[in-house]
Amino acid sequence: MNILVVGRGGREHAICKKVSESPLVDQVFAAPGNSGMQNCAKCISIEESDHEALVKFAKENGIELTIIGPEVPLLEGLADRFRAKDLLVFGPNKNAAEIEGSKSFAKYVMNKYDIPTAEYEVFTDFELAKAYVLEKGAPIVIKADGLAAGKGVIVASNTDEAISALQEFLLHNKFGDSSAKVVIEEFLEGEEFSFMALVHGTTIVPLELAQDHKRAFDGDKGPNTGGMGAYSPVPFISEHTKKIAFETILKPITEALIREGRSFTGVLYAGLIDTANGPKVIEFNARFGDPETQVILPRMKSDLVQVLFQLLKGETPYIEWHSDAVLGVVIAANGYPDAYEKGFILPDLGSLSNDSLVFHAGTIMSKDGNLVANGGRILLAAAYGDSLLDAQLRVYKALSKVHWEKIFYRKDIGHKAISHAVLNS
Ligand code: AMP
Ligand code: GLY
Repeated sequence: MNILVVGRGGREHAICKKVSESPLVDQVFAAPGNSGMQNCAKCISIEESDHEALVKFAKENGIELTIIGPEVPLLEGLADRFRAKDLLVFGPNKNAAEIEGSKSFAKYVMNKYDIPTAEYEVFTDFELAKAYVLEKGAPIVIKADGLAAGKGVIVASNTDEAISALQEFLLHNKFGDSSAKVVIEEFLEGEEFSFMALVHGTTIVPLELAQDHKRAFDGDKGPNTGGMGAYSPVPFISEHTKKIAFETILKPITEALIREGRSFTGVLYAGLIDTANGPKVIEFNARFGDPETQVILPRMKSDLVQVLFQLLKGETPYIEWHSDAVLGVVIAANGYPDAYEKGFILPDLGSLSNDSLVFHAGTIMSKDGNLVANGGRILLAAAYGDSLLDAQLRVYKALSKVHWEKIFYRKDIGHKAISHAVLNS
């Protein structure tokens, strides 16, 4: 069969690779894909936003399943378009993707159905928002309501910082319409983890856990980013906590979406904090996490395509996992997540590809055949290991052999899990 993957990032590279390994698959197409995918997918030059062309391509090329990677086309109704034409698609309709697209909607549903999350209020007026911050004190969390590429959250350690975020969001329209409304939220303490599940209506198939590293710099310092590295499994989150998160969060949210007339099909991503009072929701996403997918899919032993077909037929697939750990490190352009340079030539990645799994994100092939940087997050290198420490050593060793310029990467991906392992040994 032929499969279409919509998107162009590291997440889509990992999806294409996994899908291409299925014996059920003849050809994987990626729209528009990226220059690292040549071994696993045929890239076609259709933008994620060109819904008509995507539907036409799927019809004309006998696409039996389309997997939509990023949130923006989902929120623009791409999955609805496919379903309207009787094309099989893995990704939620627009009204279900709102669980990611509007933080105030997500909070409303969580509140209504008693799903554990931080206390909050929603504001559009700067003065009222400021008064609320002064009343609650710091630390406090300010979130742009809409999509902001992972950059719309400010964890403020004092009220001045919170108020200046409110100024940027509400008065200076930092993210346009996305920040015309803000959610102000209680600061939660505890370890963070990402819990994704494959969902179709009432069927929920949990994936292995991962932890993302959102801050730009070592020691979890610096601004929030789209993610600087990830690893799986997450040893300090017990099976018991995972079970509680499943029962108190994933199950009720899927049921809530059905009751709200927004039945969900796709990956439901819960960003959670394991607080003293149990796991609580920081955010929901309506798609595979990036970079979590790049470390979770390599651990999946089962055939993802078979799993998705079973799920979409209403069955509950069983997923088998490799016991090996996977740890991945993002190579980002200097300056990211703020202004950064594009267009510089990347070093030869031959040795890196031999020593690790390389998932491209912001790369492009220039006319003269050089691989050049074309985004803030350029690529992710990941390695398997018997333990997370082993995977960490392997990936950093592989990265250290490359002569990098104009980029940076965190040197401490996995630090929490590894110190946890040391403390418990
Ligand atoms: P988000 O984009 O919603 O995932 O938020 C980005 C990051 O901000 C999260 O990964 C957390 O580290 C932090 N964060 C968000 N909400 C809270 C909260 N209520 N309490 C503490 N930290 C938070
Ligand atoms: N890694 C966080 C996200 O995918 O939004």
